[in-house]
Amino acid sequence: PPGAQQFIPPQAGTLAELRTAATGCRGCELYRDATQTVFGRGDERARVVFVGEQPGDLEDQHGLPFVGPAGRLLRRAVDDAGLDPAHLYITNAVKHFRHELRGRRRIHQTPDRVHIVACRPWLVAEFARLRPELVVVLGATAAKALLGPAFRVTRQRGELLPWPAAAEHPEDFPRVDDAGPVADAPAARVLATIHPSAVLRADNQDVAYRGLVDDLTVAARALA
Ligand code: URA
Ligand code: SF4
Repeated sequence: PPGAQQFIPPQAGTLAELRTAATGCRGCELYRDATQTVFGRGDERARVVFVGEQPGDLEDQHGLPFVGPAGRLLRRAVDDAGLDPAHLYITNAVKHFRHELRGRRRIHQTPDRVHIVACRPWLVAEFARLRPELVVVLGATAAKALLGPAFRVTRQRGELLPWPAAAEHPEDFPRVDDAGPVADAPAARVLATIHPSAVLRADNQDVAYRGLVDDLTVAARALA
């Protein structure tokens, strides 16, 4: 696919302009079968940005990320970890719902590498506006979008990694120590953890949930 780059407004644009532009993205074929683009949302001055995989069925219908059960669980975990759920920005690595039809049901399909790469310019553009101090990647798809295909969440979850140096294409990612709203902040970092949907699917949900909260507590301490 050609990718999202040609749909991105110039660097000077605001996040709101970015969101509007994203409604018309045709950077890969996923826009065709989805209802709408699901762009990031939240506090534009957030110190932490969460990156999920892609919108699910409900998100596709509502046009907002993490409005379903995974989002509810995520907000509870964020709260339990001591982060403020009111001051977050939440987005996805891929902005359209990839699915297949089984009868009337729309079954989630994990995005392929081509979709992740095609959609990454939106993520990079969001970071350029938000300049977060910390990026939390939720699950393997988001980790692959930022940290490359070789990154293993199971091995490196809960670790604070340098950012953007840890990114697969660090040259794409703006640094936060350039002048900006968080100019006084320490260098930005990345932390990977499991996806809240994986907690919902786990055999032992309590253990999986505690693992997520433990990882997010590392994030909370890094910002304290
Ligand atoms: N899962 C995601 O990764 N993102 C959403 O927006 C919803 C569920
Ligand atoms: Fe554009 Fe991303 Fe949607 Fe593909 S998934 S059409 S790149 S917004």
